Amino acid sequence: MRRLLPADPADPADPAAHATTPGPDTLEGLAAVYAYPAEADRGRPWLRANMVASLDGAARVDGHSEGLSGAADKRVFGVLRGLSDVVLVGAETVRSEGYRPARAREAFAADRAARGQAPAPAIAVVSRSLDLDLSTPLFTEPLLPTVVITAESAPAAARRAAAEVADLVVAGEERVDMAAAVRALADRGWTRLLTEGGPRLLGQLASAGLLDELCLTLAPLLAVGDAPRILHGPEPAAAERFRLCSLLEEDGFLFARYARPV
Ligand SMILES: NC(=O)c1ccc[n+]([C@@H]2O[C@H](COP(=O)([O-])OP(=O)(O)OC[C@H]3O[C@@H](n4cnc5c(N)ncnc54)[C@H](OP(=O)(O)O)[C@@H]3O)[C@@H](O)[C@H]2O)c1
Repeated sequence: MRRLLPADPADPADPAAHATTPGPDTLEGLAAVYAYPAEADRGRPWLRANMVASLDGAARVDGHSEGLSGAADKRVFGVLRGLSDVVLVGAETVRSEGYRPARAREAFAADRAARGQAPAPAIAVVSRSLDLDLSTPLFTEPLLPTVVITAESAPAAARRAAAEVADLVVAGEERVDMAAAVRALADRGWTRLLTEGGPRLLGQLASAGLLDELCLTLAPLLAVGDAPRILHGPEPAAAERFRLCSLLEEDGFLFARYARPV
């Protein structure tokens, strides 16, 4: 993996720094590129999104994001999970991508323990219908109980069933209120927040001004078709400008990290 930006993160005047700084080809170096900002260690929730898009902006091919991904994208995906406390995801992505619990990985174990994190992030699913298969490993075998975030309007029987196998959060009346959902995660002591979309969930998070960072993989593919973009929803009053923090490349894929200006 090539680092395009920043051109040289080590101090150019200090040759020793070059020798000791692992590059983004290693999991350690990739984790350093994507480290959460210090605020997240000090208790301020930081919400980053990880999404992949084709050159023409499609968020899926043949109904899934898998067709847009590649080996390096999967490594970045794993590193971002390895750094996070919780992964927030919309129910349609859980259903269509067959979500499983996040794994504890040896490569991240020591750093996670040092930061006081559980061995793997929890998964938090946003759903009003609660049309979720509660017999799947996401609910029966997670390391940390899966969180289900729903609204008062959800069917009562489905709420009771979900509460038996998951950490059920009611955050909103007719629909889930995104700010209340993020607060509920922070209330559990989680500040390194990661969302994996999908587009409809991410559109609401961004419109509510809750998105701090976007980790975007640009896949070297032209998808055409009518797939949604990576954010989908009502247009906000003004488009928000983000700043480019880092850019990596492998096999024609670009890996950009954009954050809200401080
Ligand atoms: N390119 C990428 O990086 C990427 C990433 C993720 C997903 N995807 C693709 O995107 C597609 C799925 O994304 P999507 O945008 O259709 O769906 P989504 O955002 O994953 O999930 C939408 C669902 O989340 C629940 N939800 C969202 N907002 C809610 C609110 N305010 N209150 C209550 N519930 C709420 C609803 O679930 P209920 O219907 O259960 O009420 C809704 O149907 C799939 O094709 C997936 O492969 C691509």
